[in-house]
Amino acid sequence: MAENHTQIPIRFASAKPEDRAKVTELWDICGLTRPWNDANADFEFALAGPASTVLVGLIDGNIVASAMVGHDGHRGGIYYVSVHPSCREKGLGALVMREAEQWLQALGVPKMNLIVRSGNDKVVGFYESIGYQVEPNTQMGKRLDGD
Ligand SMILES: CC(C)(COP(=O)(O)OP(=O)(O)OC[C@H]1O[C@@H](n2cnc3c(N)ncnc32)[C@H](O)[C@@H]1OP(=O)(O)O)[C@@H](O)C(=O)NCCC(=O)NCCS
Repeated sequence: MAENHTQIPIRFASAKPEDRAKVTELWDICGLTRPWNDANADFEFALAGPASTVLVGLIDGNIVASAMVGHDGHRGGIYYVSVHPSCREKGLGALVMREAEQWLQALGVPKMNLIVRSGNDKVVGFYESIGYQVEPNTQMGKRLDGD
């Protein structure tokens, strides 16, 4: 578990199947859900295999932070990085990222990649403050589900 310097009594764990509604509600509140992505299916897919998970940060049993993390055998990736608006700027975002990094490190994954959506550039400063760098790559994608 990541070292917690925040004095906030937060505990991290992998989400349980029954956490789905609360976790996806947090992702929604944090502005991370999109009509073309099925957040419920993402949650279930991440919990279904050993190469991915959904992490949750709990204060007094309430889910206040989350991230979906996984790897493809080469690199790690992270999605739905979220801290409830009432708990921001207290170090919890950095903690959930550290937790995800440690989850990947335990599996021997050497690098984390992440995508910041255009229009959400303000979070680049957050990631830079915890050691991430903007890399000179072009990201490309293609839908495989016909959508
Ligand atoms: C991004 C998010 C997870 C950050 O959570 P947080 O708990 O407020 O972040 P922290 O308090 O751990 O901040 C860690 C560091 O990043 C800095 N930081 C946080 N948000 C920042 C921002 N928007 N711009 C620049 N720096 C920022 C903090 O000042 C802090 O730096 P410090 O340690 O030098 O003081 C949270 O704002 C959030 O849920 N946003 C909405 C969802 C989102 O956009 N997620 C990212 C998708 S790519």
